[in-house]
Amino acid sequence: SSSNNNNDDDFLQCLSTNIPSQLVLTPTSPSFTPLLVSSIRNARLVAPAKANPPLCIVTPTNASHVQAVVRCGRRHSVRVRVRSGGHDNEGLSYRSTTPNGEKFAVIDLAKLHAIHVNPHKATAWVETGATTGELYYRVATAAPGLGFPASVCPTVGVGGIISGGGIGLMMRKYGLSADNVLDASMVDAKGNLLANKKAMGDDLFWAIRGGGGGNFGIVLSWKLRLVPVPPKVTFFKVAKTMEQGAVDAVTKWQTLAPALPDDLSVRVVIQKSKATFQSLYLGNCSTVVATMHSRFPELGVTTADCKEMSWLQYTAYIYFGDAINSKPLEALLLNRSMTLGPFVKNKSDYVKKALTKETLEKIFLWPNGAGSGQLILEPHGGVMGRIAADETPFPHRRGVLYNIQYVELWNFNGAPGGEVTPNWIGSLYDFMTPYVSKNPRRAYVNYRDLDMGVNKVVDGVTCYVTARMWGERYFGPANFWRLSNVKRKVDASDYFRNEQSVPPLSI
Ligand code: FDA
Repeated sequence: SSSNNNNDDDFLQCLSTNIPSQLVLTPTSPSFTPLLVSSIRNARLVAPAKANPPLCIVTPTNASHVQAVVRCGRRHSVRVRVRSGGHDNEGLSYRSTTPNGEKFAVIDLAKLHAIHVNPHKATAWVETGATTGELYYRVATAAPGLGFPASVCPTVGVGGIISGGGIGLMMRKYGLSADNVLDASMVDAKGNLLANKKAMGDDLFWAIRGGGGGNFGIVLSWKLRLVPVPPKVTFFKVAKTMEQGAVDAVTKWQTLAPALPDDLSVRVVIQKSKATFQSLYLGNCSTVVATMHSRFPELGVTTADCKEMSWLQYTAYIYFGDAINSKPLEALLLNRSMTLGPFVKNKSDYVKKALTKETLEKIFLWPNGAGSGQLILEPHGGVMGRIAADETPFPHRRGVLYNIQYVELWNFNGAPGGEVTPNWIGSLYDFMTPYVSKNPRRAYVNYRDLDMGVNKVVDGVTCYVTARMWGERYFGPANFWRLSNVKRKVDASDYFRNEQSVPPLSI
């Protein structure tokens, strides 16, 4: 309607009096679409993002620009989506699936990526436009002997991953990324700058450390506790086909991996009826080979399967593989215009009771696209099992053996929209129901999955009862209730809203 168009013009006018014009791109700019797609990692989301583009993309260079977008947005009824690394599995940081397009602007934080490391205090302040790869590089070069527990993939943004928890190969030793947040700064739903946790209050500071991105405000920076890493860490990789005993090995792995020493994480990737075991050991090769020989002789790990390297080299190696040998480690400071991969759909589960060999065999042989489907099993246990389920919003702690991430990859060949998925992931996920966590079946918020349910807005506010469908699965019932209470206190009018945003508690 014309009044909406007036709102849009007034919104852009409001931005232009507060933000330099070169930091605000509208769809008429030739740079708009390249910027919109610049950090999209999932080809499935490109066409939907272009079909319902934001009114503008703002690339702030300081906090006042972020505050201005929120204040102008509230004044002129334009919502915001905020993007850090752009890895959201459903693209909620830059696209809206609301039919007929609710008007929104995107704040792309990529220019806010400064990192200040304090080697003596073993802390760092990182701005939320940085990627984990940049963080790893800056920490390890400024403070050799220190690291930070976060994603395996160094292209993930610290804005999203820390907001949703952050699991990785050091979590058994040091917990989630969010468990190592000491302080933060953010812009709230009124456009106020909350410079530290004291300004936020305990509840809000609790909520932003694992309660999911895009819910409570825009985090500008995190203060992190850095963790000790030895001069050399060890990677090993062992692959087993079914003929070589892959099913038996994974059967045993389920209870063994969560009980190994905290310094050792062994994850499994299952693809094409083959299991690949990959490790991070915070120590040297001979020690881990001895441990594996006594605890898991069936895997047959030898020194020939090991590579010792610095922790920083490890973070690059696990992503680039042997190609890193011909690249400088500055490759971790990736720009965001990497070539786009295939179409991707993800789901997740938590396993608390080991699956039987017979069940695992069926999974290995699952038809319908088994060639491209991938299961990534991340062991929990260690410190993860010793942190209370309500310490942070991330509830998957004691009793969890491992997380399963289902990844379906395909190349799109036909129908417009790209939403047509082959049925490997859906049918396997249905099959898994009796074998995974229940009441409700749990999932990891950072592996976002809109199939679990999307919000309904009733009388202008997101409905809590509908949101429980997905919210109690990500956070557990008690944490979800507490998150909704925090939301009511800090954003009662539900300004920060998306398909799976935490609703303000209204009952
Ligand atoms: P993106 O920018 O898309 O943001 C994700 C969500 O957080 C959105 O809702 C967004 O609005 C919000 N948000 C972003 N910045 C914010 C800010 N500053 N303040 C408030 N809200 C903000 N996870 C994991 O735990 N371990 C892993 O090893 C991996 N590996 C991995 C690899 C690949 C290739 C992908 C695609 C994803 C992962 N993930 C992961 C999942 C990842 O943690 C999850 O997608 C994060 O939300 C991504 O954060 P980004 O900042 O990149 O995403």
